[in-house]
Amino acid sequence: MVDGAAPCTQPYKVPSSSGYPRAMAQSVPSHSSLPPGPRTPALWQTARFIFDPHGYTQKIVARYGDAIRTNATTGRGIAVASAELSREVFAGDPDNFEVTSLVGDIFGRRAVIATARARHRRQRKLMNPRFHGARIKSFLAAMQRVTDTHLATRAATPDAVLVMNLLTQSLTVDIILETIFGADPGLDRARGRTILTEAVGAVTPSVIGSRYLRRGWFAPWRNFEAARGRFDAWIDEMLAARKARGETGDDMLGLLLDARDEDGAPMDDAEIRDQMFTLLVAGHETTATAISWGVYYLARQPEVLAKLRAELDALGPQASPESIAKAPYLSAIGSASLRIAPVVTDVVRVCRNDFPLGGYVVPAGQTIFVLLCAVLRDPRLFPEPTVFRPERFLERTFTAAEFAPFGGGSRRCLGAAFAESEMALVLASIARDWDVTLADSEPEECVRRNLTMGPKHGVRVRLRRRAT
Ligand code: HEM
Repeated sequence: MVDGAAPCTQPYKVPSSSGYPRAMAQSVPSHSSLPPGPRTPALWQTARFIFDPHGYTQKIVARYGDAIRTNATTGRGIAVASAELSREVFAGDPDNFEVTSLVGDIFGRRAVIATARARHRRQRKLMNPRFHGARIKSFLAAMQRVTDTHLATRAATPDAVLVMNLLTQSLTVDIILETIFGADPGLDRARGRTILTEAVGAVTPSVIGSRYLRRGWFAPWRNFEAARGRFDAWIDEMLAARKARGETGDDMLGLLLDARDEDGAPMDDAEIRDQMFTLLVAGHETTATAISWGVYYLARQPEVLAKLRAELDALGPQASPESIAKAPYLSAIGSASLRIAPVVTDVVRVCRNDFPLGGYVVPAGQTIFVLLCAVLRDPRLFPEPTVFRPERFLERTFTAAEFAPFGGGSRRCLGAAFAESEMALVLASIARDWDVTLADSEPEECVRRNLTMGPKHGVRVRLRRRAT
């Protein structure tokens, strides 16, 4: 706890209860110089940001304002901390941006998250329909079923302390396996769970920190490569089984197997493995963390829980997953959780050509960091930014750049609608059927887990079935 904020309004140990106050507005230059920023070495700036993104961001924003010259191991460039500057980046010509090499090293060079320009557009066009509209609706029942099954197994031990994040991880792994592989008869769920959990665990901060450490001599990197090797072998076996059966299947693996490029050539197995790795890894850990924060705030703020229960109870005991996923206060709780404890702190774009931004010009080859965490905590947009108040999402509409926990522009998270529905259904099941009490009185700390941020102690709770 810091700065004397009331316990229930303090999300985790952040340096100040006033969000990210800005330095005085800088005069916008008419030439191509970059703004001022810290002069510390790249390794130092990177380490500060990796290990304490909120604290470090708050400090540099307070000192330098919304545009900050940066020097990181991923490259020199500029960091932006306002919705207006984020909008300029997200609206920029996507063909002018590359992805930083870190992303390709982790997910694979051919993954949609790592490609750029024409290839990226083709991949998005192929995969987008699977994550929108009717397709999402077809996943809702599975999301709810998996959730209720997992929660039911907890009823046997009502007084045991449970680490919420472990529960949400296993839940979201099962949901992503179910929705990505459909009803593949050959799917070994237990093996899938182990492989995915190991892969996520192997992306340590040291592996992220510097590309010079992503080498065979560095044990954590070898560990990651071994986990990735087990993942690839698993996908190869499934591909071989489908090819042997002479069918592709009506799921994501089938979609990738059926895909043809403009010359009619199929996707090669290496690309399929990269896409599957991206979807399965990016598609569960992020959402699990966001749900855990949602549960944490529901447990801390009984008035929010009461309002949510009233909304859910009014839908009736037989409410369809579609109507639950659309419930406004429930959606606002999801947004409020993503805002106050952003799972992804920043997104990065590498400029191919000079890029005008906020009156500056970012030179070709330099990097733009969009500090999502700073915008989501900007007191000009979100007064009392460290207060969890879902109502703010019902009182006004935020633009795509003002509320961007999923990034923005042509690279905005492919799974955003999927994640929002999943968060809504899991939080609804917990709130409707369970009483949750926090096992610890100290506030949770938000710490770097890998590429994402999450609760240090995983949100330790006791779950008891709600008296009816
Ligand atoms: C609460 C959960 C999630 C959060 C906070 C989140 C956040 C993000 C962010 C910030 C980006 C980068 C966007 C940018 O560069 O502008 C991203 C990209 C991506 N996410 Fe998510 N994500 C979540 C869940 C998911 C899920 C469930 C899936 C898949 C099922 C998914 C798949 C992807 C993919 C494929 C990309 C790369 C998009 C591209 O580069 O074109 N994410 N996500």
